[in-house]
Amino acid sequence: MRIRSPAKINLHLRIGVPGADGFHPLLSWMCTVGMYDTIEMEAKREPGVRLRCDRPDVPVDRSNLIVRAAEALRRAHLGADVMLQKRIPMGGGLGGGSSNAAFALQGFNELWRLNHSASRLAEIGATLGSDVVFFLHGPSSICAGRGERVTPIGRPLAKFAVLVFPKLSMSTPAVYRRFDEMKLGSSEAIERQPNWNAWQRLPAEGLLPWLKNDLEAPAFSLCPELGELRQRLERQIGQIVRMSGSGSTLFTLANDFAEAEAVAAHIRQPAIDVELCDLSPNSAEI
Ligand code: C5P
Repeated sequence: MRIRSPAKINLHLRIGVPGADGFHPLLSWMCTVGMYDTIEMEAKREPGVRLRCDRPDVPVDRSNLIVRAAEALRRAHLGADVMLQKRIPMGGGLGGGSSNAAFALQGFNELWRLNHSASRLAEIGATLGSDVVFFLHGPSSICAGRGERVTPIGRPLAKFAVLVFPKLSMSTPAVYRRFDEMKLGSSEAIERQPNWNAWQRLPAEGLLPWLKNDLEAPAFSLCPELGELRQRLERQIGQIVRMSGSGSTLFTLANDFAEAEAVAAHIRQPAIDVELCDLSPNSAEI
């Protein structure tokens, strides 16, 4: 079985005041983007799960969410060989690990004929990571709670995201810690819901000025080069650039492929990768 596991971006990300468990309540519009890892899985007779990956820097032990997803579902006699082709950068705020976990949960459920319901998979997914439940729904959803309360909405009118990958990886817990040190949490930020239906119908240039990511300030405080890069990019392309999740990926939006190419052509930044990705591809396209 071969599964494509897409990345996500947070178009909009507001963060509240942390609860007693240290987790932060949030409100986010998340969309999948057309950049994929590939997970191949095959049932085997011997019990246990063996994960391999084409990138040596990716852990293949229990710290990998694919292995944890398998262990959360596996009955003692079941086994599988799994091969992961990693294309989504790690520490990039693109949810690659959570996406792998969600698609692996669905994959093992089918491979081992376990017949768990979608809501049971979501329950298990929520224990693996805050973004896992989003990937079980996708491709365009409003996420609340820790991220695990997911309400699908229509796809944005803008069809493309231009992603910029600084060669930096950000630690999500470190960015949240800095957010707390800077005392940035506000409950109002997550209580007041934007008019998502209206936002969804805005073209790229209409939507971008509304978008906000509350983790930009702490991420740029930890890594000033990232904030400087964002400013340079905005000057070069003449439109708003946002960060996804806890960084380091930066993005802007384009209404169609030609516009995305025109934006990318204005980026003059040595040693930085730029990709044009479908925004919120539907599951048939995945
Ligand atoms: O759930 P996930 O493993 O993605 O979270 C990584 C870390 O990010 C958590 O350990 C926590 O420090 C922080 N986090 C948070 N509030 C959230 C999501 C993540 O504080 N809603």
